[in-house]
Amino acid sequence: MTIAAPQPKANMGQPVPRYDAVPKVTGQAQYAADMPLANPAYAYLVTSAIAKGRIDGFDLSDARKVRGLIDIVTHENAEKLKEPKLFGNGGYMSTTIQPLASAEIAQDGQIIAVVLADTFEAAREAAHRVKVSYTAATPTASFDSPGTTSARAKGQLSQFKEDPKVGDFADAFARADVKLVASYETPTQHHNPMELFATSCVWSGGQLTIYEPSQYVHGLKNGVAEQLGIDADKVRVINPYVGGAFGSKGSVTPRTAIIAAIARKLNRPVKLVATRDQGFTIATYRAETRHVIQIGASHDGRLVALRHEGAEISSRADPYAVGGTKITTRLYACLNVDSMVSIVRADRNTPGFMRSPPEVPYLFALESAMDELAFKLDMDPIELRRVNDTMNEPIGNKPYTSRSLMACFDEGARAFGWSKRSMRPRTVTDGDWLVGHGCAATCYPTQMAPAAARVRLQRDGRARVEIAGHEIGNGAYTVIAQAAADRLGIPYEKVTVAIGDSDLPPAPVAGGSNSTASTCSAVEMVCGQVRQRLFKALMPNEGLVDKTKETVGMGQTPVTQAAQSGQPLDREKAFDALGISIVEEYGEWKPEGAPLDSFRAMHDGKMRMVGGSEMKDRIAYAFGAEFVEVRINRWTHEIRVPRLVGAFACGRIMNPRTARSQLMGGLIWGMSSALLEATEIDERTARYVNDNLADYLLPVNADAPGVEVILLPEQDDRIDPAGVKGLGELGNVGTNAAVCNAIFNATGQRIRKLPVRLENIEA
Ligand code: MOS
Repeated sequence: MTIAAPQPKANMGQPVPRYDAVPKVTGQAQYAADMPLANPAYAYLVTSAIAKGRIDGFDLSDARKVRGLIDIVTHENAEKLKEPKLFGNGGYMSTTIQPLASAEIAQDGQIIAVVLADTFEAAREAAHRVKVSYTAATPTASFDSPGTTSARAKGQLSQFKEDPKVGDFADAFARADVKLVASYETPTQHHNPMELFATSCVWSGGQLTIYEPSQYVHGLKNGVAEQLGIDADKVRVINPYVGGAFGSKGSVTPRTAIIAAIARKLNRPVKLVATRDQGFTIATYRAETRHVIQIGASHDGRLVALRHEGAEISSRADPYAVGGTKITTRLYACLNVDSMVSIVRADRNTPGFMRSPPEVPYLFALESAMDELAFKLDMDPIELRRVNDTMNEPIGNKPYTSRSLMACFDEGARAFGWSKRSMRPRTVTDGDWLVGHGCAATCYPTQMAPAAARVRLQRDGRARVEIAGHEIGNGAYTVIAQAAADRLGIPYEKVTVAIGDSDLPPAPVAGGSNSTASTCSAVEMVCGQVRQRLFKALMPNEGLVDKTKETVGMGQTPVTQAAQSGQPLDREKAFDALGISIVEEYGEWKPEGAPLDSFRAMHDGKMRMVGGSEMKDRIAYAFGAEFVEVRINRWTHEIRVPRLVGAFACGRIMNPRTARSQLMGGLIWGMSSALLEATEIDERTARYVNDNLADYLLPVNADAPGVEVILLPEQDDRIDPAGVKGLGELGNVGTNAAVCNAIFNATGQRIRKLPVRLENIEA
């Protein structure tokens, strides 16, 4: 065992190496843009230089002179596509702004032309020679710009279901011993996955094959078919590897159907690799948010009143919101709670989900406020959480399926050395450095969605698992292989996994941290079906219908009982009894509480995700506690984070190596979301300014020298058959608050607006 492969504790699988490790480090792994195509045309996008207005005309004469040019597609000659419907409103699309449909410009960087040429270089040169004349209108950039409109999220977006409230907030707040009112702000951020937004489309007969990095191949397949007005069976999406996504590749962006339509018209494969800066406007982003938190507490620290009001930016076209009050109103015990989320419209591209979409901004507000309250009460911030810990969420009084929040705080505190922290700010220095310690809670809902799988087991002990899951760096291949190996009683190395192909049995979006819980539940169920066939062969008499015979356990026959328990299987004997050499089973799994139309929706690429706070009789969350040490230079105000410690409990851990890796990446990103990452918007033009990896600050190794991940054992039998809680998005939540709480401890200065840069430190 190494640090990278932590020793498994109770209810944890082996830290086997990643299934895809060798192909990735040796460069064998083929990403979408690596797929070899026969004689492709290369596409290069031209995007709008204004955020609002209309195109008066194009001058293409210069562009047409480029040797190798094939075609230039603009709104004047583009194929008309079907009207798009937003992902969060029951459709497939990331935005309903449909480029190339008219001369109207609704956002900066809108696709306004696609240049096709025989080489990438020719397409790029011609694209740069396209001259566009516009009539520009004054755009609204963000919250403080003139011309925004604001309305409650509830009622505008079907995905946004509630403004949680309980009791009488106003009365309880008025009478509280101690009150806190504070406002918080988080910035625009872009996912910036390493792999660019690429799309290759190949038609063969009436069949379309799309090579595109996607977190949801069945969504992409159905969404593009709908836009093109063709049968979904005619579309196949292939992407065995996705080079980072973080939400940006979850819903269908307009580029795909545009490229598909052009490829059909040219009768030639078309390959697009959008540039880094185009990625800022042709896909989604994390919208900027604002929050007002009001907390009333008793002198002993118990919350008596909590109100969380949030506002999020969206486009004119779409009422998108992540809406995190469903989480923040349920984290701590409190009898009087109120909340509201508003959507503020500006002339922007439609935002979307980005790793821990609601949790990152909304827990920044709540977990900063909890730290502020602790200071007001002269209480240790961990003790404040302990006083308000609860096994039942306060809004509907539903029990958590399991909740190890305080165990995480205790373990994390021990590892971090929290007891040595000074409660008084600005009391610890080390030479020229002010030293501060801060902490915050993290939580993430456990979500699950229907999934199907096909499992083939051979007599010789080799197996193949087929499921249209997604390897986005999450370890999907690895944990699926482990789940199958465990259930089939064969070595991990004997399992082949096929994912990332919409011709495989459908799995949900690799989003909402639901992948492991959903795909492993489905794969384990289908492995059970395989075992059932084999046990039946071994127990031929038990398979006969015998009404007089008592069944075992929960109405199960002895065969089912054997198949579903851990009973070892004499595989070769069973195959010999069957007289065949391969057993193959297909099955469809859905989580408890999933609606009746779940399986049909699954095949249609629509999500029926259940879990989190939306279950009927319980609430499902993973928890953790994060600890940060900051050092701030007294003279330059440079901010360093020498130590990040996170302790997490997430049900059954399939693989401590991949789990640690996910959580470590999360902690680093969480720190980065506090100190580095922000997309700057030009207030006058509503355009993104730092749309490149030189100016958009990202952390490097030197920014995170010490990261420690502690995995706590936790068993949860009420959550899903696999006993798994999603952890992909748990790590980067609350870190931003912990950083600011540590900055307060170091300097006495409370920072409520992210990102914190050295010029914001006044100490
Ligand atoms: Mo993630 S933002 O759930 O793709």
